[in-house]
Amino acid sequence: MISLLGRLSKSLLAYEAFKGTLVVEHGEFPSLDDVCLSNPPAPTLSTHPSSPAIFLAATYACSDPDQANRILGGDEFGFAYQRDAHPNGLRLAEKFRLLHHADQALVTNSGMAALSAIVLHQLRAGDHCLISRYLYGRSSVLIQQELPKFGIESTEFDPTDLESVRRNVRRGQTKLLLVETIANPLLQVADLPGLVALGREYGFQVAVDNTFATPYWCRPLELGVDWVWESVSKMLNGHSDLMMGMVCGKDEHWGRIRQMASTWGLGAAPWDCFLAERGLTTFGLRIERASQNAGLAARYLVEHNDVKQVFYPGLPHHPTQANLKSIANTKAASDSPNDVAGNVVSFELDLQQRSVEQFIATSGILYFPSLGECSTTLSHPCSSSHRHLSENQQRALGISPGTIRLSFGIEAFDTLREKIRAGLGVSQLTTQK
Ligand SMILES: Cc1ncc(COP(=O)(O)O)c(C=O)c1O
Repeated sequence: MISLLGRLSKSLLAYEAFKGTLVVEHGEFPSLDDVCLSNPPAPTLSTHPSSPAIFLAATYACSDPDQANRILGGDEFGFAYQRDAHPNGLRLAEKFRLLHHADQALVTNSGMAALSAIVLHQLRAGDHCLISRYLYGRSSVLIQQELPKFGIESTEFDPTDLESVRRNVRRGQTKLLLVETIANPLLQVADLPGLVALGREYGFQVAVDNTFATPYWCRPLELGVDWVWESVSKMLNGHSDLMMGMVCGKDEHWGRIRQMASTWGLGAAPWDCFLAERGLTTFGLRIERASQNAGLAARYLVEHNDVKQVFYPGLPHHPTQANLKSIANTKAASDSPNDVAGNVVSFELDLQQRSVEQFIATSGILYFPSLGECSTTLSHPCSSSHRHLSENQQRALGISPGTIRLSFGIEAFDTLREKIRAGLGVSQLTTQK
């Protein structure tokens, strides 16, 4: 009985102490303003909350000008101004650092902000960069239309032909090469070790957009790549409810990228970081299931009459299937069947037999010009990601009006097979093409 009272009074005392931090009391009760404007420190917790706290604070009170100076100058670890750093961003960046086996990581307010951070940090007037001809459309626009304003030139190369790097590199002037691990929408897998070797030979750094592969399938830094960025808006978050990006890199190149990202206003907001961290909790399950679905769907599509071509790196006929071995992280490669490689499959519909509109209407698969959601979604490159290109330019990239890209989600495959079957109509299945 005495010990129960003792325990109760201890907890009452702690509660009283916490109440005492709420406001400075001048009388019996504080004034309305004192109550309403008070901002007590978070209570000290003796238990660990099951989800992270969200620090929405725009600013943090510093104990004195010296501390502000040290934190803002980077001489003391801490938070002073949200644009520079905040606890939710720090937690999330640390998770990405670990997922990519990186020295450093940074979260940004979109995938495009992540690319902006890399190029703004690495390139100067007079520099030249090489970009994959299959780079995500907006990334190409950023490099080809925005960077010339800063005196930075670029040339496209073909990541399926390393000789095209040699043909287009400018020794001493090319500082950066940009490529996707798995390109959109035909899913060409880059020969990352080959590109890294060329980077060493010619003195440029290699930066990789790993959005389609995710760290589950590939950790480019382990292959010698210098920078990796991803759109977290896609599979890493997985719930299609935020925009975010991440950059991972090596100590030796990291320099002032964090400060620079703050100066250009590229950082991610705390609430989005919280949501992304929550999305990340199921990332492993989602990517495994979605990739299995993609592998099964690719084989199903290959057998169908109204499908002219199927693009999936796990299929033996895919032109860059051989590169998979050299990029896939060993755990994913050993845990998955050989024909599974990411959650996106593209195919070319035979438009003589079936229109894209018919496929969409009858399959019931929603047309989202994005990827990486929990549900399976569809995109049509000619009317979305590649609509800024002429028909000839689209054809040169292997994209036709019948090209459809499916981003697989986590549904049961039986449901998906039915949807695809309905989308393709009643044509007979044939034997493997
Ligand atoms: C491969 C790839 N990289 C980068 C981006 C840009 O990411 P965000 O939309 O988050 O800016 C996208 C967006 O669709 C993408 O598909």
